[in-house]
Amino acid sequence: MSSASKHNAVLYNQAKIFLTDMDNDPRFHMGAKRRNQRLQEIELEIDQRGTYTHTDAELKFGVQWAWRNSNRCIGRHMWRTLQVRDCRNIQDREGVIQALHDHLTSAWQGGSIHSVISVFPPRQPGQSLRPDPVRLANHQLLRYAGFEQEDGQVVGDPHSTEFTARMLEKGWGPQRRSAYTPLPWSIWIHDEETAPADHFAAHPSLFPEIRITHPEYPGIDALGLRWYAIPVISEMALVIGGITYPCAPFNGWYMGTEIANRNFCDAGRYNLLKPIAIAMDLDTSSDRTLWKDQALTAINQAVLHSFDAANVRIGDHHELGAQFERFCEIEESSGRRLNGDWSWLTPPTSGSVSPQFHREFNNEVEEHTNFFYQRSPSEDVAARQSPPADNPVRSDDPFHLEHRHETPRCPYGFDQLSKVLPIKRRTSNGARGHN
Ligand code: ARG
Repeated sequence: MSSASKHNAVLYNQAKIFLTDMDNDPRFHMGAKRRNQRLQEIELEIDQRGTYTHTDAELKFGVQWAWRNSNRCIGRHMWRTLQVRDCRNIQDREGVIQALHDHLTSAWQGGSIHSVISVFPPRQPGQSLRPDPVRLANHQLLRYAGFEQEDGQVVGDPHSTEFTARMLEKGWGPQRRSAYTPLPWSIWIHDEETAPADHFAAHPSLFPEIRITHPEYPGIDALGLRWYAIPVISEMALVIGGITYPCAPFNGWYMGTEIANRNFCDAGRYNLLKPIAIAMDLDTSSDRTLWKDQALTAINQAVLHSFDAANVRIGDHHELGAQFERFCEIEESSGRRLNGDWSWLTPPTSGSVSPQFHREFNNEVEEHTNFFYQRSPSEDVAARQSPPADNPVRSDDPFHLEHRHETPRCPYGFDQLSKVLPIKRRTSNGARGHN
């Protein structure tokens, strides 16, 4: 079999599994006859073009199914509410900026936040030298810069230092360099990096932020903390029925711990645990006073309180943990498989009071329809422009994406094997990563 026909066979098979999943959803039910018809169409198109084009309904179901299959997400019970914006024919910088503008407008809704995904053109399967039409280099659409000083100190978010340096080098001139400076967008069109788009400078209302205060600790208010309202992951690839969409920014709304524990208190991020404890006047002389735990609880309260007071949607880990548990039960009793990644589903605070802590999850990755990590556009373009002779730019497998979800097993717990396996150390952006 030639490599093209091998690709085609794999792609067709992925499309087939996808259509079966879609058919099983009562909202998209088509029945055997229509499904077979559609499969014939797909087969023909793959034969002729090496790819196939999703119908509007397939795109709509596909983005939702990809969310449902995201093992690390605790908010998946909401998967049927994801709204898709079809941007498959947008291939120019201005068009992308307008589409992202519209995405944020429809996601924000005055603070009630809707889950939205914008889907830009797909990649042509099996043609690893062909540029992607559109890529975003940003980790999220809204994110704070991290300005590295000469002494190595960082003003802002240390997670963003590399990206920030690149934006400055490419001509970004921020009006200020504070701890909370919104980053511009880095839009890549057909492998060309276009100039940083500082859209928020002209449209600050697209970057809604919440000032963080605590109902009982004025010391915390005085720290002047803030965070943005909408998390929009923009670096991951969406795969539907074997077709890769390398640019498909999507958002839900925050769970408080993401901001309070991780963004504010991770040592590799804003690293605020000690300043918060001091602002609360806690005794930090010994770890055994549990000042860290108290400070974490307080900053979680502050984040939830502040979003609530501003009428901006946010989940807490108790609520989301209970909803996810209910979702697991419903899927189980209906005989539908639900995979999960324990180390991400268990909240970073008060683990054992969440139902996820007491469950075992199957962390197998559903490959045909999901979200995946991928190489950054600059790495991807560099690899394409000087491909190592014996090493294809993208794997021979059209669905292989670099840096896909690792599937680490839960190191603590349930099965016998884990007792004899060495426990892997988590680096600061290790198993749980930054998403
Ligand atoms: N953890 C990331 C952050 O703190 C956001 C990841 C997506 N989160 C979400 N609730 N949809 O910015």
